[in-house]
Amino acid sequence: MSSKVFHRMPKQTLPVAVAGEGIEIIDSTGKRYIDASGGAAVSCLGHSNQRVIDAIKQQAQTLPYAHTSFFTTEASEQLADYLIERAPAGLDHVYFVSGGSEAIEAALKLARQYFVEKGERSRRHFIARRQSYHGNTLGALAIGGNAWRREPFLPILIESHHVSPCYAYRERLDGETDEVYAQRLADELEQKILELGAENVAAFVAETVVGATAGAVPPVREYFRKIRAVCDRYGVLLILDEIMSGMGRTGHLFACEEDGVAPDLLTIAKGLGAGYQPIGATLVSQRIYDTIVGGSGYFQHGHTYIGHATACAGALAVQHVIAEDRLLDNVQARGEQLRSRLRERYAQHPYVGDVRGRGLFVGVELVKDRASKASFDPSLKLHAAIKREAFARGLMVYPMGGTVDGQNGDHILLAPPFICTAQDIDTIEDRLAAAIGAALEATGVTKAA
Ligand SMILES: Cc1ncc(COP(=O)(O)O)c(C=O)c1O
Repeated sequence: MSSKVFHRMPKQTLPVAVAGEGIEIIDSTGKRYIDASGGAAVSCLGHSNQRVIDAIKQQAQTLPYAHTSFFTTEASEQLADYLIERAPAGLDHVYFVSGGSEAIEAALKLARQYFVEKGERSRRHFIARRQSYHGNTLGALAIGGNAWRREPFLPILIESHHVSPCYAYRERLDGETDEVYAQRLADELEQKILELGAENVAAFVAETVVGATAGAVPPVREYFRKIRAVCDRYGVLLILDEIMSGMGRTGHLFACEEDGVAPDLLTIAKGLGAGYQPIGATLVSQRIYDTIVGGSGYFQHGHTYIGHATACAGALAVQHVIAEDRLLDNVQARGEQLRSRLRERYAQHPYVGDVRGRGLFVGVELVKDRASKASFDPSLKLHAAIKREAFARGLMVYPMGGTVDGQNGDHILLAPPFICTAQDIDTIEDRLAAAIGAALEATGVTKAA
């Protein structure tokens, strides 16, 4: 019988996932897959955490849902308190939504409403970075910098502006220090603000560590401090998108802790609910909150499922497990292990150009030529072959093409669960190596021995 589900890739036949056990997903034939990408950097506690399941059951039995125009719930209040106690300085309130794109939409509208309340109605432009991904709803897609994803929808997207990403492997010049590179990028942002007129710019939006579209690209030191200074100089808000990189993925609850900056708005999602419940959130600074609440009194927004009680209860349990089991220490240690294993194995490999990332957020970039960093012909679809070969070997990884400019380039994103053991990391790395080897053969890059 043909499926009535409108699948992502309707021509592809998918196995049926029937169970989860630790870091593995099991299909209906009994085959097991190590989830080395956490789906899309979601399942940070694996697939069978009993404490989270119990918390969800408990909430569903007591009160699954109450509309937020009538009630608040203990679950949402406690989760907001938990997040704000640990959030970067100045962030003071949490707007709960159901996923990443919704969190970005809320952030964009909060930025706009903040300026409307302040009487700065001309501030309407958003500046983001090329090769970024902020989601697929129209606002999020509009600010995203991935040319391929945007192209068919361009006529219906709001105008947005893009500057260079902080992508040291490809864009730092020979002989340029991190400091000079970061300054060059901050200057570029400043130029863009001046070109648009500072009085017309609402916010600069960036992923703290770039995820899906470029493969775990961390900023160089000082980059975000310099960016923050430029934003402050012109009264432009800084929105950090930690939907993929936040909630412990980099070894810090908030990725920007490592960069020593606090944004005005910060979006989180994936690891917040770890896949046990769909949930996202936008953390809002005291200044923005006070301006809106002290102005018109409320944020002119809302969805049916904001602040969903069961989603909040599940997410709170996820955060408690991370803290009680000291999983962020494991994220740091296992992340180091994974990157050093990959760097050792590929030190001389002709087709691996870069291994990067933070914590258990790791990217491997493939190149046709290490010296020139030339990428493979996109028609080879090397990234898709790696995904296929890995999956056949019982390994889920998250490869993507278009790494360099939306068209060219291939990378693999790894985001294993925080509960991985040292042995798991070794198994992941071994299976990935076999998959890369097989994919290079299957695409004709190397010949079968
Ligand atoms: C950095 C970033 N922002 C936003 C999103 C959109 O999140 P969602 O798919 O939950 O709408 C994603 C999803 O991959 C993401 O990685």
